[in-house]
Amino acid sequence: MYFPVHFVALLSVSPLLQALAKPGSTADIDVASFSPDDILDKDVAIIGGGSAGCYSAISLKDKGKSVVVIEKKDRVGGNTETYIDPATGTPIDIGVLVFHNISVVTDYFNRFDVPLTPYGEDDNSGQSAYYDFSTGAELNLSFPSANKTAAAFTRYAEFLEEYPRLNDGLFLPNPVPEDLIMPFGEFADRYDIGASLNTMYELDPAVGNFTTVPTVERMRTMSLSLVQQTETGFLTTAHHNNSEIYSKIQTELLSASSLLLDSEVISTLRKDGREGISLVVRTLNGYKLIFAKRLLITIPPKLDILAPLDLSAQEESVFSRFIDVGYYTSIVNDTGLPDDLSIFNYNPNTPYNFPILPGVYNIQATPVPGLHLAIYGTPRGNKSFSMPTDQVKADIIKGIKTLQQANPVKFKQTEPEFVVFSSHTPFYLQVSADDIKDGFYDKLYALQGLRNTYWTGAAFRGQDSSDLWRYSKEEFYSQLCMCICVSTLLKTARLSPAGGLP
Ligand SMILES: Cc1cc2nc3c(=O)[nH]c(=O)nc-3n(C[C@H](O)[C@H](O)[C@H](O)COP(=O)(O)OP(=O)(O)OC[C@H]3O[C@@H](n4cnc5c(N)ncnc54)[C@H](O)[C@@H]3O)c2cc1C
Ligand SMILES: *[C@@H]1O[C@H](CO)[C@@H](O)[C@H](O)[C@H]1NC(C)=O
Ligand SMILES: *[C@@H]1O[C@H](CO)[C@@H](O)[C@H](O)[C@H]1NC(C)=O
Ligand SMILES: *[C@@H]1O[C@H](CO)[C@@H](O)[C@H](O)[C@H]1NC(C)=O
Ligand SMILES: *[C@@H]1O[C@H](CO)[C@@H](O)[C@H](O)[C@H]1NC(C)=O
Ligand SMILES: *[C@@H]1O[C@H](CO)[C@@H](O)[C@H](O)[C@H]1NC(C)=O
Ligand SMILES: *[C@@H]1O[C@H](CO)[C@@H](O)[C@H](O)[C@H]1NC(C)=O
Ligand SMILES: *[C@@H]1O[C@H](CO)[C@@H](O)[C@H](O)[C@H]1NC(C)=O
Repeated sequence: MYFPVHFVALLSVSPLLQALAKPGSTADIDVASFSPDDILDKDVAIIGGGSAGCYSAISLKDKGKSVVVIEKKDRVGGNTETYIDPATGTPIDIGVLVFHNISVVTDYFNRFDVPLTPYGEDDNSGQSAYYDFSTGAELNLSFPSANKTAAAFTRYAEFLEEYPRLNDGLFLPNPVPEDLIMPFGEFADRYDIGASLNTMYELDPAVGNFTTVPTVERMRTMSLSLVQQTETGFLTTAHHNNSEIYSKIQTELLSASSLLLDSEVISTLRKDGREGISLVVRTLNGYKLIFAKRLLITIPPKLDILAPLDLSAQEESVFSRFIDVGYYTSIVNDTGLPDDLSIFNYNPNTPYNFPILPGVYNIQATPVPGLHLAIYGTPRGNKSFSMPTDQVKADIIKGIKTLQQANPVKFKQTEPEFVVFSSHTPFYLQVSADDIKDGFYDKLYALQGLRNTYWTGAAFRGQDSSDLWRYSKEEFYSQLCMCICVSTLLKTARLSPAGGLP
């Protein structure tokens, strides 16, 4: 058996691998059994093959870098999910739906020859109604007129234009202006943008209590780029199948030996002042040992999710501040609701009539008769998985049954069932007003590049693929790629035991 020289060197000195080699330790692996086929040497290892991970992998590959993506599921795409109705072949996007009409997006889709179309153009999604899911009562709500809503969005955009760097990320002035920290409900009053809140909510409900979220946390996704799309129109894929691009990415990465599906990192070794990083990854075909010049982490950086990593005290103290919400999507059949009816959950007694969480956000019509899309959310909290999924499912069914029972003339009495259920939890990572005031986002971005590690994904920008791709492309790829070129020169140092190994 052949052992590359750096592997042997690392084996003899690495506490990580020695720990793994110990029989009876958590991961009982015989290190000597790594065959050369199970050892990968890449420029960049990327953890997470969702929106940010895939975009990064393709961008770096197109710059001539070798990559490997480590994805825990059996497919890439993350929050982009498409249910294909087996009877009719009709695709239903149950996750990411719309994109911004900006060059980062159109170039990416063009590269994979996936056509885009204006969102909503060939949409005949039917009727909308407002109900209180806790009582089943229909609500006679009147929302601001289209003109008032548009005027409020214009005032909101004018505010955002005063902070142009906010369109690129959470790049905040120091000290952070009070306007950006106050609860979003107060901000809406101060700047007279209340008429836009129900539309913002229907675009993107899952942020937690809308009126108490710190303003900049709402703004990180409701960005200037996004608001501009509310005027000019969003894009979606012409085939209404947003997974198509990910299936092409998956094929391309697999054929370049650049993707490990069904895989999870079980330990990492990252050190300042040492060239490169190493990872041990559990795959369906056994353990792989990965050496890379740089690590790019795109998964939600909550401490429980990052537990297998060798976090520094600095990383740990930053990531411990994140809170998040629970977010769930599902396809439900036999709801007893008319096929073309979408129902939004509202509450008669709250500001803007937003529903009390946890709760159903809405039950939407789909192009497939008999199927509705049901979306559910929890309030903000510091526990990554605050609600058992069985409880979420039971609550969705309870909401539908409440509607049926309260409206026996309008809705049929049925036994709805889940055709698909998907958890996107933890979602919308964010921090408290105090943490923002305390310079959290400067501390977060200061982690970029430390210990040969870079970070992207929604926590670093927002829950919006278009903005996430723009952030990844514009804010750190050049730094990342430059580091790799430098470290190529230093490669010999990394490979020799004298070259700064622990
Ligand atoms: C229902 C819904 C609708 C949405 N609609 C839109 C929309 O219309 N437009 C829009 O732009 N955005 C939308 N979003 C927001 C969406 O989350 C972002 O666009 C984008 O997917 C975030 O990308 P990400 O890379 O941060 O996370 P994800 O896309 O979630 O990717 C994370 C990946 O990491 C993997 N992973 C997690 N843990 C590990 C681990 N330990 N090891 C290895 N892999 C791991 C996951 O399986 C996943 O593949 C929507 C989200 C949801 C849930
Ligand atoms: C995107 O915007 C451009 C103008 O910048 C326009 O020409 C094009 O038609 C738009 N694309 C779609 C699919 O609407
Ligand atoms: C809703 O309000 C409208 C106008 O005020 C009224 O015509 C209608 O009857 C009301 N519907 C219900 C269900 O209360
Ligand atoms: C709404 O705006 C349009 C276009 O700006 C205008 O023509 C129309 O009169 C406005 N309607 C109301 C009710 O103000
Ligand atoms: C949607 O895309 C997926 C992934 O590429 C593919 O398997 C499926 O056939 C497509 N379905 C439709 C109806 O476009
Ligand atoms: C949000 O929080 C505020 C303040 O605690 C409360 O008044 C409001 O009812 C909450 N809204 C919802 C929808 O829970
Ligand atoms: C987590 O949330 C609980 C309950 O809301 C709170 O008591 C606790 O202080 C929070 N912990 C941190 C670290 O913020
Ligand atoms: C609903 O879906 C479930 C699960 O897929 C299935 O067993 C059941 O037959 C479906 N019911 C109807 C009425 O389509």
